[in-house]
Amino acid sequence: MGRPNSDGAGRTRVLVTGVRGKTGLPLAHLLVARGVEVLGGSSDPSTVSLEGVRPTAFSWDDPSGWAAATDGVDAVYVVRPDRADAPELIGALLTQTPTRTRIVLLSEQDADYMGPDGWAPLAERAVTDGGHPWTILRPSWFMQVFTDARFYRDQIAGAGLLPFPATGARLAWIDARDIAAVAERALLQEGHAGQVYELSGPEALSLPRTAELLSAAAGRPVTHQELTIDEAVAGTTGFERELFALTFERVHAGSFAVVTDTVERVTGRPARTLREFLADTEPVLRPAS
Ligand SMILES: NC(=O)c1ccc[n+]([C@@H]2O[C@H](COP(=O)([O-])OP(=O)(O)OC[C@H]3O[C@@H](n4cnc5c(N)ncnc54)[C@H](OP(=O)(O)O)[C@@H]3O)[C@@H](O)[C@H]2O)c1
Repeated sequence: MGRPNSDGAGRTRVLVTGVRGKTGLPLAHLLVARGVEVLGGSSDPSTVSLEGVRPTAFSWDDPSGWAAATDGVDAVYVVRPDRADAPELIGALLTQTPTRTRIVLLSEQDADYMGPDGWAPLAERAVTDGGHPWTILRPSWFMQVFTDARFYRDQIAGAGLLPFPATGARLAWIDARDIAAVAERALLQEGHAGQVYELSGPEALSLPRTAELLSAAAGRPVTHQELTIDEAVAGTTGFERELFALTFERVHAGSFAVVTDTVERVTGRPARTLREFLADTEPVLRPAS
């Protein structure tokens, strides 16, 4: 594993957008361990305090900072912003990024569900048409939604509930650390350019089975509560609501039930199971925490 691009000077430099996020954080750790110079992109760089990572101002709301953030980088990890103008923003970022720079985009599983001119395919096309060496990552739902306070953590730890509109569908939950491991390879190694990687965990689980595994981790019963999509998206508005509703529609259609072996093919180790993920994180779900 060496420099993605050889300009003959210094260490490999990678900009990780969303460095405080679910995939950005483990990715930064992996890159630092490889000796990479990591620019940790955040809309508030004062909150980035990761050993070996240089806090870097990067906001989708402030294009004036993009040139400085991408200056001299060999590769960029792009966490797609979940907003209507994401395709335009990503395209604009890439016009400011030297064409030798590798681009790895975090997209989502089965992005084609929306049709070729849907929002997710357009965000991908901004990358595939941008003139850079690129890799697209299309992961299933992250296991980290169970331990993130912005998603299900408090309902699981508080009321012992997993409210989720599934209508019997299964999901192949993936550990974000496995997405980061694939991203690390794509950012640093030869052989991943032009690849679209559909990434999943090792098994597709129903919501009741997921709740059973969460029960063991939480040390108390956790029950799956079936919701309608309208109930699940209550409290959201605008594009966020549309995207959230579409995502659950896709859950119902089985978009996230497909199990792939891509994590193992790319990284050489199998994707983590939900049980393994919970073994590492279970104190977070205990009612007392
Ligand atoms: N969660 C899932 O299950 C899942 C599944 C498949 C695909 N995805 C996709 O993965 C991506 C990440 O989703 P996530 O929910 O897991 O989020 P996340 O990566 O945990 O957090 C989002 C990141 O965006 C950054 N951010 C927020 N506002 C920003 C701005 N104005 N400019 C630049 N960066 C900003 C935040 O960092 P700062 O606050 O430090 O800027 C944060 O690190 C999304 O495109 C999502 O659709 C998610």
